[in-house]
Amino acid sequence: MRMGWLSLLLLLVSTLTSKLTWALETPTGSDLSILTRELLESARNPEFLDWLRRVRRRIHQNPELSFDEYETSRLIRSELDLLGIKYAWPIAKTGLVASIGSGLQPWFGLRADMDALPIQELVDWEYKSKNNGKMHACGHDAHVTMLLGAAKLLQSKSHELKGTVKLVFQPGEEGLAGAYHMIQEGALDNFQAIFGLHVAPDMLTGTIGSRPGPMLAGSGRFSVIIEGKGGHAANPHVAIDPVLAASSAILALQQILSRETDPLEARVVTIGFVEGGQALNVISQTVRFGGTFRSMTSEGLSYLQKRIKEVIQMQASVHRCNATVDFMEEKMRHYPATVNDEATYKHGKRVGEFLLGEQNVHLYPPWMAAEDFSFYSKKMPAAFFMIGIKNETLTSDKPLHSPRFVLDEGVLPIGAAFHAAVAISFLDNHVKEIH
Ligand SMILES: *[C@@H]1O[C@H](CO)[C@@H](O)[C@H](O)[C@H]1NC(C)=O
Ligand SMILES: *[C@@H]1O[C@H](CO)[C@@H](O)[C@H](O)[C@H]1NC(C)=O
Repeated sequence: MRMGWLSLLLLLVSTLTSKLTWALETPTGSDLSILTRELLESARNPEFLDWLRRVRRRIHQNPELSFDEYETSRLIRSELDLLGIKYAWPIAKTGLVASIGSGLQPWFGLRADMDALPIQELVDWEYKSKNNGKMHACGHDAHVTMLLGAAKLLQSKSHELKGTVKLVFQPGEEGLAGAYHMIQEGALDNFQAIFGLHVAPDMLTGTIGSRPGPMLAGSGRFSVIIEGKGGHAANPHVAIDPVLAASSAILALQQILSRETDPLEARVVTIGFVEGGQALNVISQTVRFGGTFRSMTSEGLSYLQKRIKEVIQMQASVHRCNATVDFMEEKMRHYPATVNDEATYKHGKRVGEFLLGEQNVHLYPPWMAAEDFSFYSKKMPAAFFMIGIKNETLTSDKPLHSPRFVLDEGVLPIGAAFHAAVAISFLDNHVKEIH
């Protein structure tokens, strides 16, 4: 190859400039900036983007409820097969854990949840839910797709990975503690840390947010039956009225928050349903009601649980009724609070800043919603990030769990690149500590 003096000069100048950049930035900083740019460009490549959209729409059209995600799981496995990625399956019924990299430590986890909600979709669009009464109204279709996107990005770099990335696709996030069951089956043993994303309709597409320490609440549910003695409405003295007992109990429950909780501590008790009686002139035999209680700490959660039971039983007894309070812990295991590990959070934040710019990485306020990612955060260092999907043009600002929930699919390549960049750089930073 013939090289003129001009080319030689250009080569010299470019070498000097790149040396200068290296000197100005820390090596990891420079690596991260190259890595994040490259990953985002790949994921936004029209073909890649089109694949992401198609995958997400297929999942959106076929939503499946908790522990029934058989088709979703099958779709994930067939995409992993096409990419040549190995996985362990089944775990906790429909779950799976895929592995990319050397197989050696460190092992870093990335997580997506697969289940939909028992909600009838009210958005009219081409890829609307085909399953009556079921809808991906919490964005888990996007979570799965972003993780599959990360799988594709990571697989193209599998020989460069300094350890192993474990992709956790779990069932049953919506109340049934799928994460707990994944852990029980040993699927997350020996992970060094784990990272998860959740779409956020209150943040613009292209932004992310999280916080160190407690981020989401611990949560439990309860269901109550108050037993009285039915009778004619005109003869209250020969009946025992459970409606009055239930009313007193429900009012008294709120005083646990106003009188027994430090005003600076966040706790919630919400009664979500009340059901009793049918006629206007009959005293009902029973009343049923139930709800949820939440706290940012496990002490707070167990205090609420103890007092909810006492207050309901004693209020029932004041009104000569009997109460059974069921915390349904077998079926609906209580979720602990989601607490972000400081170092893992900082790592995610730094990667996010390179990926999206510092101005697009926010401190997310603590929120009383609950997430079973918390079971992972109890087991190992973990960080959970919210990723924006709000776009005025698309009106994708409807709250999570709304039948009108809309996703800005522009989030898919961002989430895929974010996942992949967090994992690759985690392995780069940790491999030295392990060996
Ligand atoms: C409450 O339970 C006690 C003990 O089992 C029973 O004797 C009583 O009849 C019950 N009261 C009501 C209103 O069901
Ligand atoms: C919002 O969505 C429109 C339509 O898809 C797109 O052209 C635009 O770039 C999006 N805006 C942002 C901030 O992502």
